[in-house]
Amino acid sequence: MSKKEKNNIKVDVNELNLWYGENHALHGITVPLYENKITALIGPSGCGKSTFLRCLNRMNDLISIVKIDGSVVIDMKNVYDKDVDEVSVRKRVGMVFQQPNPFPKSIYDNVSYAPLKHGHVKKGKACDELVEKSLRDAGLWEEVKDKLNDPGTSLSGGQQQRLCIARTIAVKPEVILMDEPTSALDPISTEKIEALMLELKKKYTIITVTHNMQQAARVADYTAFFHLGKLIEYDETETIFVNPKQKKTEDYITGRFG
Ligand SMILES: Nc1ncnc2c1ncn2[C@@H]1O[C@H](COP(=O)(O)OP(=O)(O)OP(=O)(O)O)[C@@H](O)[C@H]1O
Ligand SMILES: [Mg+2]
Repeated sequence: MSKKEKNNIKVDVNELNLWYGENHALHGITVPLYENKITALIGPSGCGKSTFLRCLNRMNDLISIVKIDGSVVIDMKNVYDKDVDEVSVRKRVGMVFQQPNPFPKSIYDNVSYAPLKHGHVKKGKACDELVEKSLRDAGLWEEVKDKLNDPGTSLSGGQQQRLCIARTIAVKPEVILMDEPTSALDPISTEKIEALMLELKKKYTIITVTHNMQQAARVADYTAFFHLGKLIEYDETETIFVNPKQKKTEDYITGRFG
């Protein structure tokens, strides 16, 4: 069986259009996002990467002027169907932002807050175990196990980002969206997050935005190049970087614009 045939589509995006009022920001995006793979979204500032990412967990619903058509099908169900509630979508599709944004609470509470709130665990041993497991999976446990009651904000930027990843995986999502997750971090913290992404893709489907071409080449299985709200080219990462089919893609990855 070839490498391609083994891949399952986890998120199937079809003819997705988005408008901010009169501004047509996404034009007919069709792209399969594969399970247990990392897909990188690249392209110049303002091309619609964050907008696209937010469509996948219906975060754009929070913006009143937004109008969307097309479909985002996760496991056979369009998340924009009328009978789907967006809170359940956001639970299945978690998000990590550019600036680490821990809650003004303890490290423990940052991780346990959502699972307790949604009733996934009760306070006590099960919750303690979930917090430990999430922090371990986020590669942070050894650094924080003796200070779980310290504020999340007392950690370094790179640690805070791993705390945010622990918080995201504590609710057991299926898909993790990351919007420039390392752009506020130093090279060592960046390396840790990249290693973590490669570990996490064994369990989750990851879609990440990056302005760092080396990062896309290092971590992503697939890469999608956006320009002016259009998906110009999508392929295995190696093909995008070594043998792109579109001249625009080549110009962008070789630094000729953007
Ligand atoms: N909340 C919003 N309200 C109105 N317009 C918006 C909003 N967010 C984004 N836009 C517009 O949508 C287009 C795409 O923006 P988006 O933030 O998705 O780009 P991006 O590729 O993520 O850029 P960057 O690399 O700078 O983060 C831009 O024209 C932007 O001005
Ligand atoms: Mg953005």
